[in-house]
Amino acid sequence: MAPNYPKIGMQNKEYTVNQLTDYKNNKRSNGLAALMVGMVAALTEEDIQKLAEYLSANTGAD
Ligand code: HEM
Repeated sequence: MAPNYPKIGMQNKEYTVNQLTDYKNNKRSNGLAALMVGMVAALTEEDIQKLAEYLSANTGAD
């Protein structure tokens, strides 16, 4: 995995909700954040909750 791409599995659910919500509200504009702003633009709050719930319990492929 490219070093600029963070590990997003097994994080605290609230942490992930906060990060995704910050992208959605344009509160994260550092580094490669623009990639993620585009990704979350179409997500609802419920989508974000469900994604964070899923990610908090799964590592995915490393
Ligand atoms: C379902 C799709 C995706 C989800 C749920 C997701 C989730 C996340 C989360 C939660 C973060 C924040 C990590 C942290 O702050 O610890 C993040 C950051 C990031 N993601 Fe995604 N992501 C997705 C798709 C993508 C795609 C398709 C790309 C590349 C084209 C991408 C590239 C990045 C990069 C480069 C960062 C770091 C950006 C920064 O420096 O702020 N992500 N992602």
